[in-house]
Amino acid sequence: MNRIEIKVEYFEYQFDELNIEEQELINQSLLARENAYAPNSKFKVGAALRLDNGEYILGNNQENKASPSGLCAERVALFHYGSLNIKNEIKAIAVCANNETNDYYEIIKPCGGCLQVLVEYESKQSIAIDIYLYSNDGRVWKTSGVKNLLPLMFKF
Ligand code: THU
Repeated sequence: MNRIEIKVEYFEYQFDELNIEEQELINQSLLARENAYAPNSKFKVGAALRLDNGEYILGNNQENKASPSGLCAERVALFHYGSLNIKNEIKAIAVCANNETNDYYEIIKPCGGCLQVLVEYESKQSIAIDIYLYSNDGRVWKTSGVKNLLPLMFKF
């Protein structure tokens, strides 16, 4: 029997400690969150991708009264990116969330489905994706590469 240990690594920052580019990415995700459509959960999520040419692609969760038909913010942004078939690679993604009914100060962690989609986009490109997870109290978790959030990712 072998015991196998997997290490993941992330760093916690305060928003003010980040550089201007990183702050802008998070601000773009906050902007994206404004257009979330969350009548069912009241939980609004924003996601922003920064490409290697400095361009941003935004997404937000889009729910539906027939609830399984909705989609998470991260996948809305990633599938939009995919649909454009642009050659620029994804340098970074920022995700933020807010609960309309209660104060929400947790660091938002992307769901497993979104992480698996992120795996696929990351494997198609030459660079790891920097991931920024924002809390409304100003904390930011930063990690580089989806492997730190989904170490046992599905790949073939
Ligand atoms: N949601 C996201 O947009 N991203 C995540 O990573 C987790 C959950 C959305 C889905 C749903 O619209 C709402 O948050 C509550 O689950």
